[in-house]
Amino acid sequence: MSDKPEKFIDENGLRLDGRQINEIRQMKIKIGVLSRADGSCYLEWGNNKILVAVYGPRELHPRRLQKADSALIRYRYNMAAFSVEDRIRPGPSRRSIEISKVSREAFEPVIMTHLYPGAVIDVFAEVLQADAGTRTAAINAASIALADAGIPMKSLVSACAVGKVDGQLVLDLNKAEDNYGQADLPVAMTQDGEITLLQMDGNLTPEEFKRALEMCKEGCRQIMEMQKEALRNKFADDHLPIEVPDEIVETLDVAATLEDVVEENEGDEVEVDDSSEETVEEDPELESEVEVETGDADEYAAEEPEEADADDDILEVEEESVDLIDGEAGDEDEGVANEGSETREQ
Ligand code: CDP
Repeated sequence: MSDKPEKFIDENGLRLDGRQINEIRQMKIKIGVLSRADGSCYLEWGNNKILVAVYGPRELHPRRLQKADSALIRYRYNMAAFSVEDRIRPGPSRRSIEISKVSREAFEPVIMTHLYPGAVIDVFAEVLQADAGTRTAAINAASIALADAGIPMKSLVSACAVGKVDGQLVLDLNKAEDNYGQADLPVAMTQDGEITLLQMDGNLTPEEFKRALEMCKEGCRQIMEMQKEALRNKFADDHLPIEVPDEIVETLDVAATLEDVVEENEGDEVEVDDSSEETVEEDPELESEVEVETGDADEYAAEEPEEADADDDILEVEEESVDLIDGEAGDEDEGVANEGSETREQ
């Protein structure tokens, strides 16, 4: 492990890696990197490299573990043996079990588990390279992988940590700040700022704690923007190019041809109309037919008051039917109200 630096923040207010105190590390996101998983994400955040695979919702075995009214979420955080300077002993450790638990809990309020009773949603977060903030990085990647798997969620979850070095609060700790700092406060939250994970190492005054939370909130907001952008790009790419089946292409061609014909013939149609008018004038038989029709029309015109009556009748009937509909609606409303009151009484 490298030695403790003398100073974490230089005279220009910059940190050892050149960042401002409220600046997060560069993040790169790749979605859908694993073909066998239902959803996956590879995320680099500074020198952290995380791979997350999501499977499910799928039937949970053994069945005795199934929950009757919701899906079970399982979250496994694991550090690859080669992910840190000293080799990590393979298998679960106290630390990885704790991180797995709190990370699962960070997703429980947002995943709509009630839609999948008896099912399981598995999240595997593999840390390939660690450099402080791996739990928050894994949560950010898991959030995207869950969305990639199409798991319904009320919100994405974004996470970052605030720490304290040289008596100053700093956003998104690097390795030296994490290992030798005075505090470490990892936080995960939803889009609405609902906190789904909060842990704390070290000491902060209540005032510092409040400010640290505000810094986390701003960090999470920025991260959520990146997560959304990555998802938007992924799904925009997925839908292009659109493959249109041949039969539809043919239909489109036919439609286009018909349109062309209609457009080309528009002028002709007018001519045809003109000629038929002429025919009507020239043909005495047709003329008489027209006269008869006109006569009928006049008769109807003479009976205008009756027509008006008929209209009124129609209007009355319509009003009645409106009344009826209103009445029915009223009844329905009553039914709903009754149902509601019955439910309340129960
Ligand atoms: O990674 P995160 O900040 O969420 O958890 P941590 O327990 O505060 O660990 C901080 C960092 O210490 C990790 O990111 C690793 O870089 C390093 N670490 C290590 O080198 N060996 C371990 N067994 C555990 C952590």
